[in-house]
Amino acid sequence: MENTLVLIKPDAVERNLIGNIIALYEANSLKVTKLRMVHADVETATEHYKEHEGRDYFEPLISYITRSPLVALVLEGENAIEKVRVLNGKTNPAEAEAGTVRNLYGVSYKENTVHASDSLENAEKEISIWF
Ligand code: PPS
Repeated sequence: MENTLVLIKPDAVERNLIGNIIALYEANSLKVTKLRMVHADVETATEHYKEHEGRDYFEPLISYITRSPLVALVLEGENAIEKVRVLNGKTNPAEAEAGTVRNLYGVSYKENTVHASDSLENAEKEISIWF
């Protein structure tokens, strides 16, 4: 069993999409084992997106992710990290495969509705940031 960290981001919470998104994960045999709604502060957001510090999109990304509450969750399942990334679709919603979360609900590269860990190491790190 693997654990992964998902953020249901402000654009999704603002549009009442929490339930739809979690339902998709649960329908794909992923179990919610931790869940927390939080209005992220700049410090936490910066720690989460540390790898992107210095990129031209970094400041707008931090101001977006801190603008209103998000939902952080831990999903548990077989091959959970890869499974969730497939269900979420490509980072840029314009390129996301049909039926994926970002294809259905994504607004833009920045407001792409969900975040998910991309490796075991990052999953551990990100879970400890949010829980
Ligand atoms: S990349 O391009 O390989 O670094 O992309 P990735 O590691 O998947 O994640 C990039 C995260 O930064 C957010 N973001 C942007 N990326 C690229 N270009 C622009 N303009 C941009 N704006 C925001 C993007 O939403 C990814 O966030 P997460 O939460 O990881 O999906």
